[in-house]
Amino acid sequence: MSAAIRLERLTGPALERHIDDLARLRIAVFRDFPYLYDGSLDYERDYLRSYGRSRGSVIVAAFDGTAVVGAATALPMADEPDYVTKPFLARGYDIARIFYFGESVLLKSYRGTGIGLGFFEHREAHARSFGEFDWFAFCGVDRPADHPKRPDDYIPLDRFWQKRGFARHPELVAHFSWRDIGDSAQTDKPMVFWLKRPNP
Ligand SMILES: CC(C)(COP(=O)(O)OP(=O)(O)OC[C@H]1O[C@@H](n2cnc3c(N)ncnc32)[C@H](O)[C@@H]1OP(=O)(O)O)[C@@H](O)C(=O)NCCC(=O)NCCS
Repeated sequence: MSAAIRLERLTGPALERHIDDLARLRIAVFRDFPYLYDGSLDYERDYLRSYGRSRGSVIVAAFDGTAVVGAATALPMADEPDYVTKPFLARGYDIARIFYFGESVLLKSYRGTGIGLGFFEHREAHARSFGEFDWFAFCGVDRPADHPKRPDDYIPLDRFWQKRGFARHPELVAHFSWRDIGDSAQTDKPMVFWLKRPNP
């Protein structure tokens, strides 16, 4: 990771101070494939504030000077809404013992130098500090390989996630709904979970 980039865990007033920067960053990054998300500032602000209200949450921001260029979120799975916890409850998991890594976003020009790895390290260290979680989990959108908006140079993150020790669990699928860029209505998206043990 470049020495110029600083990772900071944001909570309370620091989170509130950067909320608009974080919201804009998420909208900019999620516009691209595979998310193609047509986001709104109001929704993103509310979503980020909901993280601030969760006792165990963390938001890790990447700064280049004073500019927020990346961010990653995480919180106890028990604080997530039903559509996230449902596949776990249906398969008998104790959601009180799962720590959920929300999203990582980084501006394109900063990718490939280990900042994404730093996001995982910070979130995993934060989750381990509670000593009460059996699983770390996150999910990624499952787009078809021949999706018309998939760029030719798109690099899937599967290998990166496997290297971090996560395994894909195709039996654990949540359904998120959002409006794709260019669409007039929201559509349902299958989100497949990846899991790892905190201390393998
Ligand atoms: C996820 C994300 C934050 C990772 O950030 P990053 O700093 O590029 O990650 P790192 O440098 O630590 O790791 C790079 C890994 O990502 C892969 N990668 C993906 N896109 C890349 C790019 N444009 N440039 C370089 N590497 C890229 C590399 O192959 C590398 O994998 P490796 O460890 O097998 O070599 C970033 O790719 C991103 O913002 N993606 C768009 C949003 C997204 O899909 N988020 C994940 C789901 S919420």
